[in-house]
Amino acid sequence: MAEHRSNDDVTAAYEEYLMPIWKSLDVPVERADGCTLVDYDGTEYLDVFSGIAVTNAGHTNEAVVEAAKAQLDEFVHGCTYVHPHGPAAALAERIAGLTPGNLKQSFFCNSGTEAVEGAVKLARKYTGSKEVVALEMGFHGRTLGSLALTGNSSYKRGMAPTLNDVAHAAPPYAYRCSRCDGGPCDESCADDVERVVASHTSGDLAAVVVEPVMGEAGMVVPPEGWLARVEAIAHDHDALLICDEVQTGYGRTGTMFASERFDVTPDILTQAKGIANGLPLGAFTASAEVANAFEAGDHLSTFGGNPVACAAALATIDELEGGLVDDAREHGEWLREELGAVEEAYDVVGEARGLGLMWGVELVDPSETGPQGVSAAPDPDLARAVSDHLRDANVVMGVGGFYKNVMRLQPPLTIERSQLQRAIDALRDALDATT
Ligand SMILES: Cc1ncc(COP(=O)(O)O)c(C=O)c1O
Repeated sequence: MAEHRSNDDVTAAYEEYLMPIWKSLDVPVERADGCTLVDYDGTEYLDVFSGIAVTNAGHTNEAVVEAAKAQLDEFVHGCTYVHPHGPAAALAERIAGLTPGNLKQSFFCNSGTEAVEGAVKLARKYTGSKEVVALEMGFHGRTLGSLALTGNSSYKRGMAPTLNDVAHAAPPYAYRCSRCDGGPCDESCADDVERVVASHTSGDLAAVVVEPVMGEAGMVVPPEGWLARVEAIAHDHDALLICDEVQTGYGRTGTMFASERFDVTPDILTQAKGIANGLPLGAFTASAEVANAFEAGDHLSTFGGNPVACAAALATIDELEGGLVDDAREHGEWLREELGAVEEAYDVVGEARGLGLMWGVELVDPSETGPQGVSAAPDPDLARAVSDHLRDANVVMGVGGFYKNVMRLQPPLTIERSQLQRAIDALRDALDATT
């Protein structure tokens, strides 16, 4: 087996042997600790992206690593749905206590996309209906079922057809809302869901699927009351509300789940990413009444709920409940001030928005008008240049958003205030250097 000992080695092997879909921030990683990544040449980076919002308890968190190692010695695989085991039992019980309202029974899988597809299957089984409404610009995964829900055609080109019977409503994207002309939006923007149900479906609605804060769209935070109105519309049509908390869950927005922030209890709540701090695990959780629509054999996953991943998840939750979720909320208030000042200072910053430790800084060309004549034009080239500049300053910040023009600050929740300050100073330097 080849040994890869340098950044160039690793990248060359990727180019030769991995399918050419990988998009690199040009930071290969040999090891990581907390908020620090170390590449194969020994260079250290401050990580404010967490491998796309995953390592919420910090990279290689000691308690999580110890829990996974201990479980490796005990029992690694028997299929959760064939051999009941303690870690899955304990984790499901723990999730029942963490999730809002009467959400109680979980199904374990391996990823976010599987969680979303499983949730839609359950909603169909429970309601006896078929159609689904999701949001334009929303992201729910890349397998053919969840890709149908994902409201971004750039991920679908050349790969259609996806699942039928999905219609998309307008997102609560105040900065680019053509109805509200740049904001402020209010909860009445949710009425677009009603319009879409009436005009694009037969009315045979199984679920409305939304992210409480839209991550891949560019950290789009809905106005107060919006999520509750979507819930009411779904229920008016005897459909379920599925909150996709794959990205917002496990403390990311300053509460364990973002639905809580908006005082909404979804009928099904999906999870993945931060749940096990980097070990592959996904889940969806429903009330016992909804969950009981599934009968034996209706759904299964060979690896889902793997004991090692569940043990890691239990330790992750301990860490999050040990103060990290509260820290995320406090950091979020501080970031509101700091990034608000960045928005004021730079006319290329169209908007800085977020909750907890889930923030986006939307970069624009102020001399051009944006899509549908609203706000300024997205500037993805600037975002790429800023990201490169940050990397050269040893700071890893993501780039995303529907228009690929949003800088993503989603660090491990273990980040120190001084590290956040360093990231913001570096962002300002990068904006100074590139504009
Ligand atoms: C809200 C949301 N749902 C689903 C997914 C898909 O998760 P995965 O990549 O684990 O399949 C993502 C991934 O970014 C996501 O952000």
